Amino acid sequence: MIIQKSSNPRISTFDPSNFSFGNTFIDHMIICEYENGKWGDLQLIPYGPIGFTPAMMGVNYGQACFEGMKAYKDNDGQVFLFRPEKNFERINKSAKRLAIPEISEEIFMNGLKALVDIDREWIPQGEGMSLYLRPLLFATEEALKARISEKYMFAIVATPAKSYYTAPVSVKISDHYSRAASGGVGAAKAAGNYAASFYPTQLAIEEGYDQIIWTDDCSHEYFEESGTMNVFVRINDTIYTPKTSDKILDGVTRDSFLQLAERRGIDVVIGDVKVTDVIEAQRNGTLKEVWGVGTAVVTSIFEALGYQGEHLTLPKLSPEESFAEQLKNDLVNIQTNKAEDTFGWRVLVEENVYGV
Ligand SMILES: Cc1ncc(COP(=O)(O)O)c(C=O)c1O
Repeated sequence: MIIQKSSNPRISTFDPSNFSFGNTFIDHMIICEYENGKWGDLQLIPYGPIGFTPAMMGVNYGQACFEGMKAYKDNDGQVFLFRPEKNFERINKSAKRLAIPEISEEIFMNGLKALVDIDREWIPQGEGMSLYLRPLLFATEEALKARISEKYMFAIVATPAKSYYTAPVSVKISDHYSRAASGGVGAAKAAGNYAASFYPTQLAIEEGYDQIIWTDDCSHEYFEESGTMNVFVRINDTIYTPKTSDKILDGVTRDSFLQLAERRGIDVVIGDVKVTDVIEAQRNGTLKEVWGVGTAVVTSIFEALGYQGEHLTLPKLSPEESFAEQLKNDLVNIQTNKAEDTFGWRVLVEENVYGV
């Protein structure tokens, strides 16, 4: 690994009680370039702009994908990654679908650990605090040719993250737009998936909703995802979630929730979640909870569903009654080393072993 430490670190100006998530970047970043058919050296360098021209293929043809994951600091100051091997597998799955050359586990893990280690002081400590890590892969060849690029960059940037608390949200069940199509790139964390979701989401916001529950592209009869999260529905005491497919992102939080639900002995059904069944359950009072799960906020609880002009309110459960809250707590306690990690999900980021 080539290491160039920042000569002008900003850490002394970082105030963990007052910062903006997503706009505050740690002192360093990782880059690694691909050309002539191979990945080069991993580089740990000061965070900042890198020169590209508007003819870069990644921005013209959207050959780009990314990951989202977090590092957590426990009460003793130890730092952990959460299931990073899942993000490694997923970035390569996304890369494959977008014809981007896959990266090695060594590049991904060493880059991640070295970056987190060198900038561990940037990880805020305490309830809901973490460091959000964004590994990404994009085409860098300078060519206006609609074909597979011959040059790429792998990079990791990071921004401190705070409180998980999000107010309950209202979501619109989509009956027109879709996030993904059969045979498409929905299961990849392709940058273009997010671009395509912004306009329908903006329309839903104009109608007074916070986000969209995406339904299948053919019939709009089945739940797929919610915003940028996987979706769970609780009817009576059974949890339902759609099966992953080529249209649904295989979320790390979703998978963790499923294992935690099993450990709690909660009944889980993985399969079709039909919109009309959820609406019917809301009408007959058996719909208890609907929520989204993802790395960013862990859980986002829904207070209302909008469907074909109707606004359907959901029950307000106490934290003790809510499966969403219970599972979120189980997960956060493991992530932050407050509970025993019987699943082997935490990965300790050791100090000074990556040559930094
Ligand atoms: C479209 C989409 N679905 C689901 C998720 C949740 O995935 P994870 O739990 O791995 O963060 C994300 C967030 O990364 C996402 O962007």
